[in-house]
Amino acid sequence: MSFRTTTAIDYVEDVAPGSGALPPRAWYASSDAKSLSLNGSWRLRVSPTADAEDDSFAAEGYDAGDWAEVAVPGHWVLQGDGTFGLPIYTNHLYPFPVDPPRVPTENPTGDHLRVFDLPEDWPDGSDGGGAVIRFDGVESCARVWLNGTDIGEFKGSRLPHEFAVGHLLRPSGNVLAVRVHQWSAGSYLEDQDQWWLPGIFRDVTLLHRPAGSVLDFFVHASYDHVAGEGTLRVDSDVDGRVSVPALDIDVETGESVTVPVEAWTAETPKLYDGVLTTDGERVPLRIGFRTVVLEDGLIKVNGTPLLFKGVNRHEWHPEKGRALDLETMREDVLLMKRHNINAVRTSHYPPHPAFLDLCDEYGLWVVDECDLETHGFTEQAWRDNPVDDDRWTPALLDRAARMVERDKNHPSVVVWSLGNEAGTGRGLTAMAEWIRGRDASRLVHYEGDIDCRDTDMYSRMYASHAEVEQIGQELDGGTHKRRGLPFILCEYAHAMGNGPGGLADYQRLFETYDRLQGAFVWEWIDHGVKHAELGYAYGGDFGEELHDGNFVCDGLLFPDRAPSPGLVEFKKVIEPISFHGSDGTVRVTNKQDFADLSAFAFEWSYQVDGETVESGSLSVPTLAPGESAEVKLPEPRADHGGGEAQWTVRASLAADTAWAAKGHPVAWGQFPVAARSLPSVPATDGPVLGERVITLGPASFDARTGALRTIGGVDVNGLRLDVWRAPTDNDNGASWQDDIRYGPVWRKFGLHRMRHRLDAVELDDDALTVRTRVAPAAWEVGLATVYRWTSDGSRLKLTVSVGPEGDWSALPLPRLGIRFGLDASADRVRWFGGGPGEAYPDTKSASQLGRWDSTVDGLQTPYVRPQENGARADVRWAEIGGLRVEGDPEFFFSARRWTTEQLDAAEHLTGLTPGETVWVNLDHGLNGIGTASCGPGVLPQYYLHAEPAEFSFVFSEIN
Ligand code: GAL
Repeated sequence: MSFRTTTAIDYVEDVAPGSGALPPRAWYASSDAKSLSLNGSWRLRVSPTADAEDDSFAAEGYDAGDWAEVAVPGHWVLQGDGTFGLPIYTNHLYPFPVDPPRVPTENPTGDHLRVFDLPEDWPDGSDGGGAVIRFDGVESCARVWLNGTDIGEFKGSRLPHEFAVGHLLRPSGNVLAVRVHQWSAGSYLEDQDQWWLPGIFRDVTLLHRPAGSVLDFFVHASYDHVAGEGTLRVDSDVDGRVSVPALDIDVETGESVTVPVEAWTAETPKLYDGVLTTDGERVPLRIGFRTVVLEDGLIKVNGTPLLFKGVNRHEWHPEKGRALDLETMREDVLLMKRHNINAVRTSHYPPHPAFLDLCDEYGLWVVDECDLETHGFTEQAWRDNPVDDDRWTPALLDRAARMVERDKNHPSVVVWSLGNEAGTGRGLTAMAEWIRGRDASRLVHYEGDIDCRDTDMYSRMYASHAEVEQIGQELDGGTHKRRGLPFILCEYAHAMGNGPGGLADYQRLFETYDRLQGAFVWEWIDHGVKHAELGYAYGGDFGEELHDGNFVCDGLLFPDRAPSPGLVEFKKVIEPISFHGSDGTVRVTNKQDFADLSAFAFEWSYQVDGETVESGSLSVPTLAPGESAEVKLPEPRADHGGGEAQWTVRASLAADTAWAAKGHPVAWGQFPVAARSLPSVPATDGPVLGERVITLGPASFDARTGALRTIGGVDVNGLRLDVWRAPTDNDNGASWQDDIRYGPVWRKFGLHRMRHRLDAVELDDDALTVRTRVAPAAWEVGLATVYRWTSDGSRLKLTVSVGPEGDWSALPLPRLGIRFGLDASADRVRWFGGGPGEAYPDTKSASQLGRWDSTVDGLQTPYVRPQENGARADVRWAEIGGLRVEGDPEFFFSARRWTTEQLDAAEHLTGLTPGETVWVNLDHGLNGIGTASCGPGVLPQYYLHAEPAEFSFVFSEIN
């Protein structure tokens, strides 16, 4: 005898994709057919299990007056302040027992209700037409009733589903009931690294389907780059005509026509407006002509090999989760364009379709990825992986078809991706075969297919520079097929916290080897959840049983879409124009693939000691893609007077574009003309020993310890050698990385608890010398550190000499410099050096040499999990708190209102509170950043080795 009486919910655990939905078809935002948005306020009741409630709520007349109200699109766990449940973040672990296709009994289930009337002008059905309800995205499984009739159920969270409902509609009081289950068999296919967020999170729309209206249609618009002609053919399930007025095209569906056109590329996104007209409907078309091929082992569009400068984009909004509005999507596209990005991988599911309209319009190459990841099966050596189990193949094919059919008319989509991190299996091969059969005009990608059996490109994630170079040189071996294919990094440069480091080094490789066709940074935006107490929440902040902490905050944008320094660095590294200068000449190279330089204006400026003394416009030939020219710079009129002199050359938009205004900066370069003269401080004063105090020029010191106390009227406290930094996410590294994880190693060796032993305070005629040994408890390694102070009467010079003792060979230093405290009134900061943003040895490309100013707060970079940040590189001098400090050589400058130890201890930004002191770090060196939070560590050239070092700072009081 069985007690399980829940057959009504068997569909939840059924591997089949669903029942009742119409076949997938092309998506379009609007036509002349009527539509009614069913977005808005819905009634919601959340139950703890899938069968806690019967389906009586779907019946007409049900009184849901005491249910909560929520916004659709939306996720119920992000509404109601936790009363409907909470988000869960896991990277790849399933947050439920792995027993496919079974899901837990605890299966939060949201019953949604919406009553709607038809607009007065809605056709009454006598025209022979019908209607469909379209759901653009529901996580993870839904059953739908209209006016009490069960119309079907579906899975495939980020894919559209349409149901025919014309026969059920009536003028008013239509009751739409949707039961949404958080967990379903589909959840096994949706194990992407992101928050688990149930709900109706994309639009719900009622579409009138007049008699003779459009069903599915496929716009084929290719471009012959030799003839300069485009060929258009629109296949349509319902016969009709296609017109494109600007091209004088007026043909029948199914008929081909070839005419001269401008091609569509991401750099020149030329779209032609057209119309598909059938007996019952007129659908606007936006047609872009382009041809994607794999030829000579390269991905080519319109005959030209592409170089992807891409990002991986998850859909994210800190309050709405994956329920993005159009303006947020547009902001993403505009931010990408403004940062020189030319490609986006829709990791790891098809985005809201409107995003692809924006990519068509503004110009981005798109790798459209299917809603598929089964990463959690890696924990059981991929046993029972759905992609290698024929029972699941219909679900996989359904997902592939829903993606391809929905998105096939977008010129921006050049590659179909089968999914992400789903192992290997027959189901993936079936998807690839189906896709090729349906759309031979695009290429197929899947990173997990290491031998490229089913794919058109060799794709990897997080391969090291050295390996990528080897692949570029075609020395990587692999199958015969793979050896003939182009290479992309579908993920690299893990942008978690401070970083990513090493971007410029990757870009050099991509630009050197033809086979390397570019890469996609992981990832676009931090998925921090706005949180009243914590600022932004990450994994664990909602009390999850399993979670992966702040691994969900690994984007180039902060959760509020403010660009991080990583994005500024990326923009510089992937500039479409490069400048190399020498001897009054600059070599300008057009690094674009398709467009000439006519969109850009150029200017030069000449700086002395960081200040612009002359500037003007620069005339640069309209170079074709790939071309270079030597351009003479004007002879500077001003004498640099012994100061440091340099050229800066800039390219900006010559006119307003769709994505940025005239003047928007695009690329720049700087070239030295005359080197800096280092500060010279003749030691004319000597130290004078008083009762408790030693005086030297403008400074006073503690007579017993030799510790600096004041410089003129400025109190200075705690000045000493500093080697510690609050480990970055990349310092801490990921457990699965091969590279050494220096964060934990540094902590093990006690670099965060160095002791300073005082060995001697020596006064001689021209110097005060303080000898110390800086070393951690329990270890024999140490740094013999000598502070030598001299003065010319008004200025104070400190020379620090550091001699490593013991075996430091395996232990780079986090930083090497001094730190000291100033009164909290110190706020404004001015400097001559790299800026305006932070820079570390391997994240320095975007650091421009100039004069900058900021405030102590303004120097901080708000990484969601606090960590080392905010250093300014190549600083010649800086002013803060009444002091000026000049470096010999240049140094890294940071200042913050908390100690490094407090920064290290904080888990969220709200854990940092300003204290009585502003802590300043002047660093001779900093260790590189790398990307070991998921990927290779710091490249050897960016290690800060513990080696004998000497560096000086000259302090003076400013009034
Ligand atoms: C990749 C994966 C991404 C993300 C990333 C780390 O392996 O494809 O979804 O998890 O690692 O942030």
